[in-house]
Order: sequence, then C-alpha cells, then structure tokens
Amino acid sequence: MTQYEIVLVKRSWRTLRNINPEILAGTFYGKLFTERPALRRMFPKEMSLQYQKLMDMLNTIIARLENIDTVDDEIMNMGKRHLGYGVKKEHYGLVGNAFLWTLEQGLGPDFTKEVKQAWMNCYNSLAQKMIR
Ligand code: HEM
Repeated sequence: MTQYEIVLVKRSWRTLRNINPEILAGTFYGKLFTERPALRRMFPKEMSLQYQKLMDMLNTIIARLENIDTVDDEIMNMGKRHLGYGVKKEHYGLVGNAFLWTLEQGLGPDFTKEVKQAWMNCYNSLAQKMIR
C-alpha cells in the first residue's frame, strides 16, 4: 500500500468504525451468507461476539497500517487459526467481495474509485499474509 492509500483507508475507517457492529458487521455477514449460504454453518449461531471480534481486529490492523510489520505475527497466527476453522484459500475472495460491498454501502458517495482501490490493496495484502 502507498502512503496515500493508507491515508484513504484510515480516513474512511474513521466513519465506519462508529457504526454499530450489529449493523456494519451484520451487513457484511448477511451479504456473505446470501452469496454463499454454506459458509453460515462455519460460524456460531449467535454472531454478536463475532461482530465485535471482527471490528476489534480491523481497528488494531488499520491503526497500525504504517507499521504493519509490528502486527505480522498476529496476522500469521490469525491465518493459522483460520485453517483450524476450516477456511480454504478460495474463501478469501468471497469474503473480500462481501467486505468491499459492505464498505460501499457504508460510505456511499465517499466510496470513490481510489478509496476502493486502497481498500482492495489493504484486504489483499492482509489475506495474502493469512493464507501464507
Ligand atoms: C482478511 C480476512 C479475515 C479477517 C481479518 C478475519 C477476522 C476474523 C477474526 C478477528 C476472527 C475471531 C477469531 C480469531 O481471531 O481467530 C475470525 C473468526 C472466524 N473467521 Fe475470519 N477473518 C478473515 C477471513 C475469513 C475467511 C475468508 C473466512 C471463510 C469463511 C473466515 C471465517 C471465520 C470463521 C469460521 C471464524 C470462527 C468463528 C467461530 O467459530 O468463532 N474468516 N475471523
């Protein structure tokens, strides 16, 4: 990611992180499970804790984007835990699409082409580290 992309991601996350996790993360998982219903059973019945965990992890990672190396170990460990959940390499594309779609709903006209590109780079580098 470039310095400018980091600025764009941080700026848009400041808007999104204040949205109630039930709504923001709920929208994300809703989209994911609509696109691929089979994924629902990988997750717990009650999703509130999962919503909070996802938001907390995104807060941590986005806060440290300019020194991402300092969270590399945490990202690698998260990737390992995902293997244990039965997550496959192919799933990351589906999750990325549902995530970008959710950002678009949350940001509306602020989800410009360059903001989208910045988030795509952010997600892809995160996903690549987890997969590795
Ligand atoms: C960049 C991509 C992703 C991020 C940042 C992320 C983040 C998280 C976090 C923070 C947790 C909480 C538990 C933990 O930290 O281990 C979690 C759990 C989980 N994630 Fe992900 N995830 C990602 C990709 C995926 C993908 C591609 C799938 C595939 C469907 C997936 C499925 C799951 C499942 C099944 C759980 C465990 C639910 C449970 O049993 O409690 N995640 N994820």
